[in-house]
Amino acid sequence: MIERIVNPSADDVPEQELEQTIRPRDFVNYIGQDRLKQNLQLAISAAKKRGEPLDHVLLYGPPGLGKTTMATVIANEMGTTIRVTSGPAIERAGDLASILTNLQDNDILFIDEIHRLHRSVEEVLYSAMEDFKLDIMLGKGPSARSLRLDLPKFTLIGATTRAGSLAAPLRDRFGLVHRLEFYKPDEVRKIIERAAKILNIKIDKKAAEVLAVRARLTPRIANRLLKRVRDYADVNGDGIINHATGLQALELLEIDELGLDPADRMLLMAIIESHNGGPVGVETLAALTGDERGTIEDFYEPYLMQIGLLERTPRGRKVTAKAYQHLKQTSKTNTQQTILE
Ligand SMILES: Nc1ncnc2c1ncn2[C@@H]1O[C@H](COP(=O)(O)OP(=O)(O)OP(=O)(O)O)[C@@H](O)[C@H]1O
Ligand SMILES: [Mg+2]
Repeated sequence: MIERIVNPSADDVPEQELEQTIRPRDFVNYIGQDRLKQNLQLAISAAKKRGEPLDHVLLYGPPGLGKTTMATVIANEMGTTIRVTSGPAIERAGDLASILTNLQDNDILFIDEIHRLHRSVEEVLYSAMEDFKLDIMLGKGPSARSLRLDLPKFTLIGATTRAGSLAAPLRDRFGLVHRLEFYKPDEVRKIIERAAKILNIKIDKKAAEVLAVRARLTPRIANRLLKRVRDYADVNGDGIINHATGLQALELLEIDELGLDPADRMLLMAIIESHNGGPVGVETLAALTGDERGTIEDFYEPYLMQIGLLERTPRGRKVTAKAYQHLKQTSKTNTQQTILE
């Protein structure tokens, strides 16, 4: 697979380390997501006042919007310890049991990619979340007995890009369920300016604005673009990112005014050229681009739909008039021909 700069997941270690350093730690530094913050602040204050743990929280939404960050912010604001793990990392029910029994009252257990928990593990969570009890079976066959252990009163924070893949009994056990929204360009600009300050990168407001509108309304991509553009400014200028160097760098990275990269444009062109603009099934799209279905659903689609280039219909995905217009500007010949047909 081609490495995409606009890929919203953070796969490599250097990037994860960088994210640690610029990750906001409290509500004040967590930019945007105002409604989510208000709801959480209220729940946190109430829990603190009552001296109880916070209700279990489920955060869902496309990658890179700040779910993991929010989990650590919640722990900080609650003044508690957070224990981090992920769905695929917990292989057996026993693994989860040992994590749970090692928690303290009010601790937060963060399970990333919670939709990927094994079914047998998930079932242990039900009584743990509901009654803070752990049911374990001792022995096998007719002599088997079950034992109920008390667990500390913990808070589970689950994160997922796929709320739809979560089993209903699990989803229903979360008291607070929130979707993370794409950011507004102005919020992305603030995120860029904040990261630049921490990393000692000099960028003027105009340049931050340019980056902000091309960062797919996603903080992780904004931070990544900032780094790439800084490299460009270091090599080709005096290290200061201004409007012109910003634009040149993005041109070199082939990221257009809407934040689309060549892979996005190829996807849209494929729907236009091979399927007359759609509707087309997601499996067909995956075949057209050579990606997996999950990649299309998690990475390409949410943003393309958010900015109105792609729409979902009962019969499949359709390219919008806005997409035709946009592609006509970026690759005139191909698209005009399609429109005339
Ligand atoms: N609201 C925000 N304000 C400032 N920076 C943010 C915000 N949200 C996210 N970031 C930055 O974006 C990066 C990615 O965020 P995070 O890792 O929390 O995303 P995520 O939703 O957990 O993604 P994934 O689904 O891939 O796990 C973080 O390193 C953080 O620096
Ligand atoms: Mg995460």
